[in-house]
Amino acid sequence: MSDVRPESMARITTKELADEFIAEQVKEIREQVGDKKVLLALSGGVDSSVVAALLIKAIGKQLVCVHVNHGLLRKGEPEQVIKVFKDEMDANLIYVDAVDRFLDKLAGVSDPETKRKIIGKEFIDVFVEEARKLDGVEFLGQGTIYPDILESKDGIKAHHNVGGLPEDLNFELVEPVKLLYKDEVRVVGKALGLPESMVERQPFPGPGLGVRCVGAITRDRLEAVRESDAILREEFAKAGLQGKVWQYFTIVPDFKSTGIKDGKRTFDWPVVIRAINTTDAIKVTIEEIPYELLYKIRDRILDEVKGVNRVLYDLTPKPVATIEWE
Ligand code: XMP
Repeated sequence: MSDVRPESMARITTKELADEFIAEQVKEIREQVGDKKVLLALSGGVDSSVVAALLIKAIGKQLVCVHVNHGLLRKGEPEQVIKVFKDEMDANLIYVDAVDRFLDKLAGVSDPETKRKIIGKEFIDVFVEEARKLDGVEFLGQGTIYPDILESKDGIKAHHNVGGLPEDLNFELVEPVKLLYKDEVRVVGKALGLPESMVERQPFPGPGLGVRCVGAITRDRLEAVRESDAILREEFAKAGLQGKVWQYFTIVPDFKSTGIKDGKRTFDWPVVIRAINTTDAIKVTIEEIPYELLYKIRDRILDEVKGVNRVLYDLTPKPVATIEWE
């Protein structure tokens, strides 16, 4: 398949158009892959999930999915990947619990870019170890989408999602959604029967909660990020804000402040809530969230999340601040 989207290609906006695309891709994938195996790093994000579902439809058990739990995923994510792909779609799924491995490597590391590098390198190492255990894999599935190709042409970012694999592995790429825009990938995902909560997911950084546990990651503070993020997502969903706010999450900085609980002094972390709107992630605005909802989230976080005694709301647009805190 060429890397250029033909002018004649209609934007996939309906189930009918998605079904047509799926039928074409299933045929092309079967022709490309034959009876060989395809390996896919399945994070549970929109793009890799849609590619997994397409490949399962085309080649079933010839697809080997590897889901690496690096300990920096959101609450319930590894469980959802296992439920949807292994239990419901009967996929060939290898689940790798690499939580200790990642968190041990990250212990004491506070520089944000060093944290990113460690997470990226460790991910490749784990993935390659799994790849080397398998026989007959000649292809690598990837959730490359059209903006990745356009941006890599402009030199903005390297487009290979699993970059840096050793050359001797020599995989041929299978990239069935590489000519699609994000909204089309979501329509195709729905037509393939993936759950709404997976297909409509907000953007989530590769280094995951690691960049929201500011500074050197500790397990207890990481839990505070994960639990407060789960509360925020649950309450935004209940209030109908899912899909209306582009990205929303919590951050737990690595400092403490004084508080009071049950008549006793506490010394605990703050949780910062960030909720932003944008179209391109370059220029970002803060829109009003009803105070009533913020109070509800605050009360739940203070009640349910261990080690927290303050809740703050980040009012800063981008620029001046970036979306993430690291
Ligand atoms: P910033 O913080 O640069 O974020 O305003 C812009 C968008 O990119 C996401 N982001 C990342 N995504 N790896 C990723 O895959 C990263 O290291 C990373 N850092 C930020 C961020 O969540 C936002 O959507």
